[in-house]
Amino acid sequence: MSEDQEKKMEDKKQKEIKITPIKQGTVIDHIRKGRAMKVLKILDLIDRDIESIVSVAMNVNSSMGKKDIVKVEGMELKNEEIDKISLIAPEATVNIVRDFEVVKKHRVGLPDKARGILKCRNQNCISNQDEPVISEFEVVAKDPVTLRCEYCERKMKGEEISENVI
Ligand code: CTP
Ligand code: ZN
Repeated sequence: MSEDQEKKMEDKKQKEIKITPIKQGTVIDHIRKGRAMKVLKILDLIDRDIESIVSVAMNVNSSMGKKDIVKVEGMELKNEEIDKISLIAPEATVNIVRDFEVVKKHRVGLPDKARGILKCRNQNCISNQDEPVISEFEVVAKDPVTLRCEYCERKMKGEEISENVI
C-alpha cells in the first residue's frame, strides 16, 4: 500500500471513532434526535461554571434510527436531575460510568407529576407570587409531553417546557 493510501485508511479509521468512552461520569444515551441541546439546557450544563468535559454527539446511528448522546465527565447525575431529563427526552437512558464500566443504567420514565422543577408560564399563577407555593404540574399527555399546572390549569408542551426549567 502506498503512503497515500495508508493515510486515507488512517483518516477513515479516525472518522469511525465518533465519540470516545469516558473513564468516569454520566452518559445520557438514546436521546431523541435533535434534543441534545435541550438536555444540556435542562441540566444547566451550558451556563453553569463546571469543570467537567461535556461532549455532545448528534445524529448518531443506532439500531432504532438516529439518536443524540451527551457525556458529562466526572459528574454523576442525581435522581432529581434524571427526572428532569424525562420531561424533554423520555426515551433517554442515563448510564453512570466508573472506571470505564457502566455501573448503573436508569431508563428515565416520565413521572406523573413534576414538582418544583418548572415555572408556570402564567405570570398571575399563585406559584409565581411571593407565596410559599411549590410549582406542580400533572403530566396529561405523553406524546408530545404536555403538562398542566395544578394551580391555574395552564398547559405547556414542547419548547415551553425546556424554557421554563427552574
Ligand atoms: N459509554 C461511554 N464510556 C464508557 C462506557 C460506556 O461513553 N466507559 C457509553 C456507550 O458508548 C453507550 C452508553 O455509554 O453510549 C451505554 O453503554 P453500554 O451500556 O455499554 O451500551 P449498550 O449496551 O449499547 O447500552 P443500551 O443497551 O442502553 O443501548
Ligand atoms: Zn400555574
